[in-house]
Amino acid sequence: MNKQRPKVMVAGATGYIGGGVLQVLHQKGFWIRALCREKSRLVNPNWYNDIMDISALRTEYIQATLSRQELNLDPFKQFEQWFQQAIEANLPEPNAMILATASATGSPSTRAVLLKYFDRSGFVFFSNYESKKAQQIQENPRVSLLFLWLGLQRQVQILGTADKISTASSLKYFATRPRGSQLGAWSSMQSTIISSRQILEMKFEEIKRKFLNCQVPLPSFWGGYKVVPKSFEFWQGRPHRLHDRFLYSRCEDGFWKIERLSP
Ligand SMILES: Cc1cc2nc3c(=O)[nH]c(=O)nc-3n(C[C@H](O)[C@H](O)[C@H](O)COP(=O)(O)O)c2cc1C
Repeated sequence: MNKQRPKVMVAGATGYIGGGVLQVLHQKGFWIRALCREKSRLVNPNWYNDIMDISALRTEYIQATLSRQELNLDPFKQFEQWFQQAIEANLPEPNAMILATASATGSPSTRAVLLKYFDRSGFVFFSNYESKKAQQIQENPRVSLLFLWLGLQRQVQILGTADKISTASSLKYFATRPRGSQLGAWSSMQSTIISSRQILEMKFEEIKRKFLNCQVPLPSFWGGYKVVPKSFEFWQGRPHRLHDRFLYSRCEDGFWKIERLSP
């Protein structure tokens, strides 16, 4: 035991010196982490992270069930019912949804957006028309929306196509936004690289001055998209990972076919 102690110290010193050199190399862009795995652990725990084992984190889904009998034949009605329950359960941001888009070549991208309204014709959110999502929607209008309501152990996935709504409809919604959000829409070239937060804030101040004492107009580069669904999947977590899943697919005749999916 005593004999081992100096060896550890030597290893530590080597690790420190070696690690310093390795860190410089790392900053210069060398991919060396695999080579110095042990040494880097001695030097700087943040520099190389060991695997974070979270495999023991698990929840049993026991809150509710979903059966074919209780499903509404109309997926919009079913969605409305679940959405209402998400509101009643006081879930944070129940209208937040993950929007997945893909480029023409299939390169995917996801982000959260807020659902602002929906009816039988589709689901509407608002964004910058020059953002990454906008570019991808222009190249490839097929999108996915995912509502994850963990508090109810539920998710809803909607697949469909996205299209811009009319300028009149965008204006109608824009006019209801708080003034700060209206100015914010003008201030941000969403998804582009910006060198500092200060630039963003200076832009905001400039826009504020520009529209001082007048209504903030709708930017030509900002507006709504409507996602017209072709399928809905309602997912209810169940014990032992034997979840309930029901897929609604739109048929040619406009009716919706309902099928149970394996979990
Ligand atoms: C809860 C939440 C809600 C959001 N809502 C919107 C939204 O309604 N519209 C929007 O453009 N971005 C929204 N964002 C920001 C987007 O997630 C994203 O950062 C931004 O739209 C740029 O995405 P893009 O670069 O992929 O186009 C929201 C983010 C969060 C976390």
